[in-house]
Amino acid sequence: MSRVGVVGAGYVGLTTGACFAHLGHDVVVADIDADKVARLAKGDIGILEEGLPELVSEGLATRRLRFVVGAAHAAADAEFVFLCVPTPRGTEGNADLSVVEAVVREIAPLLRPGTVVVNKSTMPVGSTALVARQLAKAGAVAELGVASNPEFLREGTAARDFLHPYRVVIGADDPAVAVRVSELYRDVQAPVLVTNPASAEMIKYASNAFLAMKVSYVNAIANLCEAVTADVREVTLGMGYDPRIGFEFLHPGPGWGGSCFPKDTAALLHTAARVGDSFPLLASVISTNEEQRDRVVSKVRDALDRTDGRRVGVWGLTFKANTNDLRDSPAVAVTRHLVGEGMSVRAYDPMGGESATDLVPGLEVVTDPYEACADADVLVVLTEWDEFRWLDFTRVAGLMAARSIVDARNLLDPAAMRHLGFAYVGVGR
Ligand code: UGA
Repeated sequence: MSRVGVVGAGYVGLTTGACFAHLGHDVVVADIDADKVARLAKGDIGILEEGLPELVSEGLATRRLRFVVGAAHAAADAEFVFLCVPTPRGTEGNADLSVVEAVVREIAPLLRPGTVVVNKSTMPVGSTALVARQLAKAGAVAELGVASNPEFLREGTAARDFLHPYRVVIGADDPAVAVRVSELYRDVQAPVLVTNPASAEMIKYASNAFLAMKVSYVNAIANLCEAVTADVREVTLGMGYDPRIGFEFLHPGPGWGGSCFPKDTAALLHTAARVGDSFPLLASVISTNEEQRDRVVSKVRDALDRTDGRRVGVWGLTFKANTNDLRDSPAVAVTRHLVGEGMSVRAYDPMGGESATDLVPGLEVVTDPYEACADADVLVVLTEWDEFRWLDFTRVAGLMAARSIVDARNLLDPAAMRHLGFAYVGVGR
């Protein structure tokens, strides 16, 4: 079993640390946020993530998982250091690597010969080589290994995705380093692909951009379906039976969001531009996504005789269901637009979503779905939380000023809604 240091206790770092501890390794997870470290040390993970609190508690109980403040404490004694720090969107769409570089400068003098530094965060092509150069510049010993080991976990199913991945990708120029990293995953049942660092980095971006493309594509098809009275749900069912297409990532909605797709598609476009390729397909995947948000706003506008002062009830603020993450949420973007057009918007999210009021000044967030639609002229469903299906729609109908629903996730049954007297508008049907 190995001594693993993890720098960064965000979604990726915390999951990596807890799962490696579960796999039997001795793990130290570092973060710069002392309050967060104190909470984590008590087993309070602060995010909605199925199975992760249990894994953290298990690691704390077995002492295989420890939390410390500052990267240095995770790196000093480690055989592997996983870099899991944020790589946010820079001003030109590029991935901002300043945090990575600062961490590398901090840990470089402390690393022992034979330590492998692994890029786990999504970092642009060339970053593993950059880390190697920066380590040398910052005075690290020569006998270090570097590797890229991109993470493919989804929010909401992070621990399950880490422990049961579709594949493990390891990019390293030194085959001995690749073998050592692969041994960390000995008890994980998945194909292991060993390649060079640039290919590993590209696999991550190409995968996320492909998935974003799938969603943009199905959103465009849904819009066409509306124009020709086809039903996108039947259409995607008919498409999905072909295994070359598959059923997954074919749900139309208000567009993709979250902490990954928007940042990663922009970064890939930036990488392409750097080598003189305008990558029009990817540019259009991104613009199609922005237009999709605008389409939801148009549907709300169309449902009202006038927008100014009209009341809108919103269900769902997170970027997808089963997470409490509001980052780059299409629901927040749509809500901001509605408020900007003078509508009075009251929103409910099962995870609270109170901090959405910081992102959308003027938005009111309530703690009850019925309160959100009381006196509303239209109800807009923006996130696919399952609980919305099971609410009492007779009560909803009685509470609203006008019976009108814009269902941007195709969550509700149109026939049942129309039966209750609602004007119902979904996506692509
Ligand atoms: C995504 C990838 O799925 C992970 O494999 C990857 O590791 C992660 O990004 C990352 O790079 O860290 P995540 O951001 O958690 O994971 O969210 P997804 O479940 O992929 O959903 C992304 C967006 O697409 C959401 O806004 C979701 O609502 C939307 N979506 C997804 C649809 O509108 N329709 C679909 O059919 C699927």
